[in-house]
Amino acid sequence: MPLIRECIVTTADAAGRAHIAPLGIIADGMGWIIAPFHPSTTLDNLRAVPFAVANYTDDVRVFAGCLTGRSEWPTVAGAQVPVPRLAAALAHAELAVTRVSEDVQRPRFHCAIVHRASHAPFEGFNRAKAAVIEAAILVSRLHLLPREKIDAELAYLRIAVEKTAGPDEQQAWDWLMEKVRTHAAASAALHKQ
Ligand SMILES: Cc1cc2nc3c(=O)[nH]c(=O)nc-3n(C[C@H](O)[C@H](O)[C@H](O)COP(=O)(O)O)c2cc1C
Repeated sequence: MPLIRECIVTTADAAGRAHIAPLGIIADGMGWIIAPFHPSTTLDNLRAVPFAVANYTDDVRVFAGCLTGRSEWPTVAGAQVPVPRLAAALAHAELAVTRVSEDVQRPRFHCAIVHRASHAPFEGFNRAKAAVIEAAILVSRLHLLPREKIDAELAYLRIAVEKTAGPDEQQAWDWLMEKVRTHAAASAALHKQ
């Protein structure tokens, strides 16, 4: 199995507008592969402007926020690429696309690292942060997964949040649970029709 690192990927469109999305980047020798499913803004942007930034952050509100309509996180200009980075990143890697492996569902953008920088110390692991990341992945697949699996996995993840969350993790969790409830209500309404 390849190493996959969960991070916030920033890209830009041809007009220079930034886009922020959580993605798991795949280790590829000295570089990384970005593999966005079709359709997505990240995919369109990588075709228009073949650069990206992998932002490493432990602020899980950014992961949860992007999946719940809260994508306006502050950015600053990249050093070597025409794509901004997340202002709150602990570290980041600037990536240039060197090759694309085409696929109808999920093309793979092979990237070389052109610049790396660290900005703030990593303060250690926290179970609630990990739980929020897992819950964010579940929320990104709400339309694909059976309700029972989502409920069972959230019940387990909730234990880590209740035991170890600080205010940021709690807020991120609450945003995700609100989305789960909205999705469940919409599905129930659909089935009644
Ligand atoms: C931790 C995490 C990892 C993810 N990894 C991927 C990925 O590798 N590829 C992908 O297409 N979506 C991934 N997603 C889902 C995307 O973040 C989500 O679908 C997003 O909307 C991307 O589409 P966009 O570029 O249009 O915003 C991931 C979500 C989370 C929370």
